[in-house]
Amino acid sequence: MKITLFVTTITLAAAVALPMSAASAAEAEDLIKYRKNVMKIIGGHTGSLFAIAGNKAGDASHMEAHVNGLAGASMMVKDIFPPESADGDTRATEKVWSDAEGFAAAVTELEEAAAGLQDAYANNGDMGAALKALGGSCKGCHDDYRSD
Ligand code: HEC
Repeated sequence: MKITLFVTTITLAAAVALPMSAASAAEAEDLIKYRKNVMKIIGGHTGSLFAIAGNKAGDASHMEAHVNGLAGASMMVKDIFPPESADGDTRATEKVWSDAEGFAAAVTELEEAAAGLQDAYANNGDMGAALKALGGSCKGCHDDYRSD
């Protein structure tokens, strides 16, 4: 009786454990995909802002939506690098997690640059300087925490 119960427990545990490990493998992929999508959104707003500011394309009336969209997406960056997303089809380097403090500072730099851009836009400030700071924050993090 006891043995039967034991075997049943083992079988149950195995039945539950298998699908769970399959699910966590898929989850890393989903986490990485989500991260890339957020970065693409950030890249889309940034590229659009540079195009408008440089009078290359777009329209000044689009500026506000890009500035606000960028600020919103930048606030997500602190959440899109969970440790479970370290391995897979990603260019994020191991340093993201081994140098958590430096990485957090790079995230803060982006948040501040995006907020600074919103501020410059709202108060007729120097958009050129604000965009330069923004571009610097991207490069700073990519140089240190993204592989080529
Ligand atoms: C705090 C670090 C950090 C900051 C700041 C940052 N990025 Fe990234 N970015 C990354 C990492 C790491 C990846 C690689 C993600 C991956 O492959 O999983 C990436 C990937 C990207 C990608 C490629 C997405 C894809 O399709 O694979 C684009 C585009 C991008 N970033 C644009 C930007 C722009 C534009 C800025 C600045 C406005 C910026 N990033 C700021 C860390 C950062």
